[in-house]
Amino acid sequence: MLEQVLTNSIAQGGLCLSGKGVTKIFGMGARRTVAVDHVDFEFRKSEVISIVGESGSGKTTLVKMLLGLTSVTEGDIYFMGQKRDISSRKKKHDYWRGIQAIFQDPFSSYNIFHKIDAVLLDCINMRGGKGLPKKKKVEMMAEACSFVNLKYEELTNKYPFELSGGQMQRLMIARIFLLQPSILLADEPTSMIDACSRATILDMLLNLRKDIGMTIIFVTHDIGLAYYVSDTVYIMERGKIVEFGGADDVILRPKADYTQRLIQDVPKIHEPWDFTNRKARTAVFV
Ligand SMILES: Nc1ncnc2c1ncn2[C@@H]1O[C@H](COP(=O)(O)OP(=O)(O)O)[C@@H](O)[C@H]1O
Ligand SMILES: [Mg+2]
Repeated sequence: MLEQVLTNSIAQGGLCLSGKGVTKIFGMGARRTVAVDHVDFEFRKSEVISIVGESGSGKTTLVKMLLGLTSVTEGDIYFMGQKRDISSRKKKHDYWRGIQAIFQDPFSSYNIFHKIDAVLLDCINMRGGKGLPKKKKVEMMAEACSFVNLKYEELTNKYPFELSGGQMQRLMIARIFLLQPSILLADEPTSMIDACSRATILDMLLNLRKDIGMTIIFVTHDIGLAYYVSDTVYIMERGKIVEFGGADDVILRPKADYTQRLIQDVPKIHEPWDFTNRKARTAVFV
């Protein structure tokens, strides 16, 4: 049933986030940097999209604009078909109910003075669960922790800095489980952890898309990873989108020189990966 809903919603392909001519310029004069240069994109509901590019290509800047954490110098962003309006604090908070992110560095994502219960309780409150009985809230927090293989009882009363990097990453996903945003932006979410937990984290995120139809936008420099997880791939080079399309088209039949170069680099990083057979490649992740 869920599979059916998911397939339908992808087939219907409603737009959830799109942009026209989105540009970000930092600084002025000699220090002027065009970090994101007139990019157009269309992300559909329940789709997994990867934005791939080398370090410095503007990926994080684009993510920050999508989240409304940094201003857009030029161009427009549309959310659920409407021009995005985050002009007030309240509108911004409403927007964040629908779009959330997990970042490369989990340490920077938490308020270090808030205990873990408070971090999770915040998520329940944000989704309108403020008035729920305490018992129900604890149940929800425990469920979220068990979704990411953490034990709630072991986490209560701890601070985020008392967790390992891998546990923190998983706590970030537990937050997403509670928040259930329609769109998740994941900026290099697995770069801090070893290959084994990396596969688990990816599986958890992909399960969320299956369970709640969440759109996931992965941001990565790793084109092999992009191929493994995505329906659609956007390739970014020096602030511009140089190529986009279905994962198979872009990665098996790349048109842009830049994409071809990124692919040529892959066997050096992930020897066992075989681009001609997706199933075979998943073996390295289990
Ligand atoms: N706050 C900032 N001020 C000035 N330049 C920035 C700022 N943030 C990013 N940049 C520049 O914008 C470009 C793109 O950076 P970034 O978006 O972080 O790329 P990526 O995430 O792909 O590595 C880089 O040249 C970077 O130095
Ligand atoms: Mg980055």
